[in-house]
Amino acid sequence: MSGYRHNPTAIRALVREDAVHRDVYTNPELFDLEMERLWRSAWIYVGHDSQVPAVGDFLTVNIARQPVLMLRGSDGGVRVLLNRCAHKGAKILGAGSGNCGKLLRCSYHGWTYTLDGALRTVPVKTGYADTRFAESEASKGLSSAAAIAIYRGFVFARLSRSGASFEDYFGDSLSSIDNLADRSPVGRLEVSGAPLRYMHNSNWKMFVENLNDTMHPMVAHESSAGTARDLWQSQPPETAKPMVIEQFLPFVSNYDFFDKMGVKIYDHGHSYTGVNFSIHSSYSAIPEYAAQMEAAYGAVRAQAILGESRHNTVYYPSLTVKGAIQTIRVVRPIAVDRTLIESFTLRLVGAPSALLERSATYNRLINAPTSVVGHDDLYCYRAIQEGLAANGNEWVNLQRNYSDREKEPGAAGSYNGTSEVSMRGQFRAWAAAMTVDGAGS
Ligand code: FES
Ligand SMILES: [Fe+2]
Repeated sequence: MSGYRHNPTAIRALVREDAVHRDVYTNPELFDLEMERLWRSAWIYVGHDSQVPAVGDFLTVNIARQPVLMLRGSDGGVRVLLNRCAHKGAKILGAGSGNCGKLLRCSYHGWTYTLDGALRTVPVKTGYADTRFAESEASKGLSSAAAIAIYRGFVFARLSRSGASFEDYFGDSLSSIDNLADRSPVGRLEVSGAPLRYMHNSNWKMFVENLNDTMHPMVAHESSAGTARDLWQSQPPETAKPMVIEQFLPFVSNYDFFDKMGVKIYDHGHSYTGVNFSIHSSYSAIPEYAAQMEAAYGAVRAQAILGESRHNTVYYPSLTVKGAIQTIRVVRPIAVDRTLIESFTLRLVGAPSALLERSATYNRLINAPTSVVGHDDLYCYRAIQEGLAANGNEWVNLQRNYSDREKEPGAAGSYNGTSEVSMRGQFRAWAAAMTVDGAGS
């Protein structure tokens, strides 16, 4: 199929209640439209404010293929500006991160901007006398994201002027970020080091769907986690369980385990698995940490925070969070079949270093390009990307545990863990954003 740009009916026809057309993963025009509509009208994760602790600290990323910079201003506030000089359009900052000092200065003709993006000086200003420069777009300085919100240190931006408010967009799904931050005895998080970057030669939605796909681990990860399990079983029974074995083994839990785990969905495509327990529930206790949490929050509240063991929370479409092991993964789409995944390890401020060690180990073990688990998933995404070229059946089936209840308004709620309900929710959000008039404004 082709010609989607001016044809909302054709786009709507791609998403059935329980199946989606293959074009959503393979059609370059749809990818362009996703960036212009869905990714511009959604609240997209930019970075964490701990990555820019001092005035002048910055981070540069692409959102919906547009270069943006996240910057700590002179007033201590964090801003998200478009990384584009107001003169002839050069990117103002080229590095991925750093400190720009008290001003932003373009490397081409030296226009400078204050840290809030306002134009400060132009060399030989007399050249603009009597030119009505004050009325130009350039005189306004750097453009800013249409809306920005910072929640527990997580910085989100919306590029489009139209779209849901931050609170309406995420609603109660923010409880997963709360649980992650609350795991610090002082309620604060810090990004620890650079992310693990893993380029995926597949469509971004395959990754996002997979985060709540609990029918794949026992099959796709049999070769990695299953091998670890078999090796472990050959050890004498009294052998102390190494951390990596503790982290590997739950991946090959059975169907019943993942089904009872539960999945919860929210409006706008968000969801999380692990409503009742998860693959992170049985890690060894760290008594010093438990005591610290009890001192900070009281026994009942500490128990409630640590008793939550959510598996993956999807903040559709750009961020996935694992509160129980303090890692997040950020989705950076590049082309219809190319997606950069950045995996960050977070430090619980005030917690013992054993927590950071556990999180960093997990991130390397599961999410790094060198992981023996991560490439199982990527192999499957790539297999889909290639398999979808086959003619004969143009539909991807998402029917597991489909029920009419999902069609009702307010269908958000809990379902059995192996249901494909979260993917259906993502595509409902996808179809709505892709067919809204003026979503690109
Ligand atoms: S392009 Fe930036 S100063 Fe000219
Ligand atoms: Fe997986």
